[in-house]
Amino acid sequence: MSAKSGRIRESPYGIELVEHDGFFYTPYVLEGMMKMYSQFKAREDDVFVCSGLKTGTTWLKSIVASIMSQSKGNDLRAKNAHDLIRNVEGIYDPRSMGNAEIPSPRLRGSHLPYSALQPQIGSLGCRIIYIARNPKDTFVSHWMFLPTLQGVHNGETTAPVSKEVFFDCFCNGVSVFGPFVDHVLGFWNASRNQNNILFLTYEDMKVDSLSHIKKIADFLGQSSLTEEDIRYIDSQCSFQFLSTLDVNRNGKLNMKNTNVSNRSFFRKGEVGDWKNHFTPDMNSRMDLAVENKFQEAGLFLKYEL
Ligand code: A3P
Repeated sequence: MSAKSGRIRESPYGIELVEHDGFFYTPYVLEGMMKMYSQFKAREDDVFVCSGLKTGTTWLKSIVASIMSQSKGNDLRAKNAHDLIRNVEGIYDPRSMGNAEIPSPRLRGSHLPYSALQPQIGSLGCRIIYIARNPKDTFVSHWMFLPTLQGVHNGETTAPVSKEVFFDCFCNGVSVFGPFVDHVLGFWNASRNQNNILFLTYEDMKVDSLSHIKKIADFLGQSSLTEEDIRYIDSQCSFQFLSTLDVNRNGKLNMKNTNVSNRSFFRKGEVGDWKNHFTPDMNSRMDLAVENKFQEAGLFLKYEL
């Protein structure tokens, strides 16, 4: 099965997926995307935090929310980052759309691929910050997250999904917001000749979070942040700090029609956990299916630090 094969109802790993313009969505998200096209009016100064699934969205949203708020991270003690920066394709929730009533610059998230955002957002030149992550760690994180995805709307999960089955799907491009390669390369290629897109990687941020927070702040026009502000934001957005907050240990996402525990966004927060889960065969298959395509496009990701 490939992403070009048209509409499918149930993926082999138990999640309903619909193919649209070369990408896979859950029916819920596809409906939200259509609603976004008809209701969301982008503004030139909107800021979008974009990513595929499990590539460090929670971390990046925490950093962006902290940079842009007066409290420099204290909001995160009360709310999970996904409640502070809502995805524009999240439906049934007027706060996701936020048209007239929210002052500029509005912060929005999105898991949509670049081509799906492009019609209104890319063409206006809105600032987009994208976080990519190496496919091996992304795969493991995504696989571990599948029970949450299965129960996202009703809390019901089915049997644990076999790693082998999901691996085949992921490598063939069949995953939520996949194909993963096309998602990453859509933003990567656009970022190479557009200065409204800041392309980051999870691994580089792990190597040097301080300089990346500074880079993000400059990109957002917040160059006046002091070194002390940046160090504070770094500590407030660290995995160690966020994952132990009560809101993230015991809270749930404040989003209509979803049933997601905040704790599901925090697992290990490391680079290289794939080595604990990959066989040599999986390693070479992932290189063939994904990594080689990144290299051909001039994108070189880190797999260990
Ligand atoms: P692991 O499953 O490898 O631990 P997303 O936010 O896009 O859903 O991505 C989730 C991944 O980011 C998970 O990876 C999670 O543990 C990690 N993560 C969450 N918060 C983080 C933080 N503050 N710093 C680094 N990694 C974080």
